[in-house]
Amino acid sequence: MALKLSVIGTGYLGATHAACMASMGFEVIGFDTEQNKIDFLSKGKVPFYEPDLEELLSKQIASGKLTFTNNIKDLADCDVHFICVGTPQVKGGIAADLTFVNSALESIAEFVKAGALVVGKSTVPVGTAARLRSRLIELNPKADLAWNPEFLREGFAVEDTLKPNRLVVGVANDRAEEILKEVYAKNLAENTPWVRADLPTSELVKVAANSFLATKISFINAMAEVCEAAGGDVTVLAKAIGYDPRIGSRFLQAGIGFGGGCLPKDIRAFMARAEELGAKQAVKFLEEIDSINLRARQRIIELVRNDLSNDLKGKKVAILGAAFKPDSDDVRDSPALDIAAQIQAAGAIVTVHDPKAIINAQKRFPALNFAEDINTTLKDSNIVLHLTEWKIYRQIDPKTVKTLVKDAIMIDGRNALDRELWLKAGWKFRALGRSQVG
Ligand code: UGA
Repeated sequence: MALKLSVIGTGYLGATHAACMASMGFEVIGFDTEQNKIDFLSKGKVPFYEPDLEELLSKQIASGKLTFTNNIKDLADCDVHFICVGTPQVKGGIAADLTFVNSALESIAEFVKAGALVVGKSTVPVGTAARLRSRLIELNPKADLAWNPEFLREGFAVEDTLKPNRLVVGVANDRAEEILKEVYAKNLAENTPWVRADLPTSELVKVAANSFLATKISFINAMAEVCEAAGGDVTVLAKAIGYDPRIGSRFLQAGIGFGGGCLPKDIRAFMARAEELGAKQAVKFLEEIDSINLRARQRIIELVRNDLSNDLKGKKVAILGAAFKPDSDDVRDSPALDIAAQIQAAGAIVTVHDPKAIINAQKRFPALNFAEDINTTLKDSNIVLHLTEWKIYRQIDPKTVKTLVKDAIMIDGRNALDRELWLKAGWKFRALGRSQVG
């Protein structure tokens, strides 16, 4: 008999995991406490923007393999329960808020059937899985708990779930590993690397991976600062060092830095947890990674000030991009919106465009102006900031849009535009880590 799976928490991670597991042939039931999410998902609609997900989800719902509920008891006959709830940063601190993970475990512990495996996928501070496992066994001695961290990227969530570059399972015994091997049999047949770890190591793998990625981005942004000071060009530097396979060229895109619901909060939660464990010094460098990252936002505001004679009052600023990265409508800790809000607070008249994230951005920053189309955004502006590298922005013709703006100054916060093209069209071109030309 094929395993029956449940997915608790249907945000980015949970909705994607549920749809992908159903597409692999399992019967899957998704649970969420938020009724509107359940209503949406049950109709085959995804309440956020994620390429390919809606199509996959509606297909699985139509096939009858995937259902959603807000009644936790409906999960009673599942064999494996994936916990996919959020672990945001606590209010007023840097640690992770485990309220949702704890309550997910408490809500199912007593009624899951004998032999059921609870599998955590949420990003948690090391030690959480062992604590939750003890609690589960205390409430239900015939159940077990494993950890299986998730590495999916927003914008590539479906691809990353169906074809992960590795599967990491934190288990306390062989049986838990065997069950997970059954769940991921298709991936194993495709030779996806499989790493068995103990519970704490599996939790650490996730935060170590995100810390490394954050470090890579802040490293190149630190080099951008030095390039600016020395008259170098960070885009050339990144290309040159990236050819060394030990370094690799990915995640070396200098600019306004990382945001989103994962990297910033994960490195902070890691620092908080390491301190609790007496290993504060070992990850102290992450403080600097965080500072370099936040400094990039200030550095771009400095570039704006330089071009606007240090006076932003009444200046019209056009901002291209609100999402924390392209192909996403997620604005959590978005560098683009943070910069937009700070520029507006300094007295400028800011208009923000984004192809997908305006509704979410408006909720978070209701005082900012938003425009539905690029031309309205650019009209009569004194300066243009390119802050999220959506493909459509690279397709803008600098010659055509020059006639719309008041002053042709482009600040490329992502080092993603073709500088020569903009210069040739008569724009001044500014970017982090490069000389300011035009
Ligand atoms: C990140 C990790 O990449 C995933 O592996 C992980 O599963 C996920 O967090 C998570 O913990 O759930 P994600 O937040 O979707 O995924 O975004 P990334 O693609 O990692 O980008 C993060 C930020 O870094 C974005 O703001 C992006 O613009 C920025 N970035 C990325 C740069 O500034 N430069 C780069 O070279 C690359």
